[in-house]
Amino acid sequence: MSRIEAARAILAANDRGGYTVPTNRLYPFQWNWDSAFVAMGWATFDFDRAWREIERLLEGQWEDGLVPQIVFHAPSEDYFPGPAVWGIARTPPTSGIPQPPVLATAARFVLERHGEDGIARARAIYPKLVANHLWWQRARDPDDTGLVATLHPWETGMDNSPAWDAALERVPTETQTEIRRRDTGHVDAAFRPRGVEYQRFIHLVDLFRGTGWDAVRMLQLSPFKVADVGTNAILLRAERDLLALAERFGTAEERDTIASRIARKETVIAGLWDEPLGHYLTRDLIGGGLIPVRTSAGFLPLFAGLHDHAAALAERIDAWRRRGIGLVPSTDPDAASFEPQRYWRGPVWAVVNWMIARGLREAGLDATADSVASETRRLIGDAGFSEYFNPIDSAGIGGGTFSWTAAIDLLLGEEAQR
Ligand code: DGY
Repeated sequence: MSRIEAARAILAANDRGGYTVPTNRLYPFQWNWDSAFVAMGWATFDFDRAWREIERLLEGQWEDGLVPQIVFHAPSEDYFPGPAVWGIARTPPTSGIPQPPVLATAARFVLERHGEDGIARARAIYPKLVANHLWWQRARDPDDTGLVATLHPWETGMDNSPAWDAALERVPTETQTEIRRRDTGHVDAAFRPRGVEYQRFIHLVDLFRGTGWDAVRMLQLSPFKVADVGTNAILLRAERDLLALAERFGTAEERDTIASRIARKETVIAGLWDEPLGHYLTRDLIGGGLIPVRTSAGFLPLFAGLHDHAAALAERIDAWRRRGIGLVPSTDPDAASFEPQRYWRGPVWAVVNWMIARGLREAGLDATADSVASETRRLIGDAGFSEYFNPIDSAGIGGGTFSWTAAIDLLLGEEAQR
């Protein structure tokens, strides 16, 4: 089987009927940002299926515009916390928090490849994307600061990043819900978040469920509140992609609103640059300061089109490459908190690399973009379509046969041909 066929076969094997699970058993439902990347992967060989991925995710959208982190299309005992813990009476059931909003970027990507034949599908999706971006504004930035708040580490997709350690200390470890982890039954516990982190993750879910998932109260009550540089950068990129869709499908008023959000975000995300650490950082919205931990999320302003510090960021990546460190580690390998094989505390993710490489390329830093892209392909080629990779010994870790890794391999494989 060729590499392309192998990647396509993973998407096909993880297809559960118009939506793709991230991997069998460990993640048995539809995840929000996974599906956005996976839709782009499908678009390399099956446009109908690419649109279906997005449409099925949007079946979980709430009336207020939230596109939840998980859509529980079919029951499974393989995952904790399942729908009963979230306690959200919807069909299909969903979780009650967002994930990084890659969806408008994915929709634009699929449309641009599909061309005129994709217009009807994109037109139907467009108002839902508009509603989703308005949700971010209303629910997570009601004071119009330009930065959206994150209330749960799961919302960032980077669950146990060391950037959350200090802010997460404020979250009590007591839970109403009994913790019955399933993840460590599927993969080695050494690759996964620690028990105390799960206690805090579930404390937050219990707290939010107690508000009836009221967005205003959640924002007021959450003891964890950060302006995640990753989420904000991805949202700024998504706003630009939404504006491109609005040029075709939207009203003049919508375009003006999106353009003014973009202008505001450009200014405030630029303010997340920390000169002493030479990196973009997350702001702790309770403690007030920038969180002094360099993570891969801090490269994502490049993907958002902020290029002022592109050369310095590229130089850090080049220096890691010269030392033989697999690109791009999720935590700075020189940080005390770096753990090369534990979830989001060191390993490399193909999806993050794809965004970083794209940002570098758009900033005109082709050599570093090529390094990140070819390194991603090397890791996947050597270790398989794993969930993530150890940047020190290049081992594939976490779940195997992972959908978004396969999707990114398809995208990077095509880009390498150009
Ligand atoms: C998990 O359960 O590990 C996920 O990352 C939550 O989205």
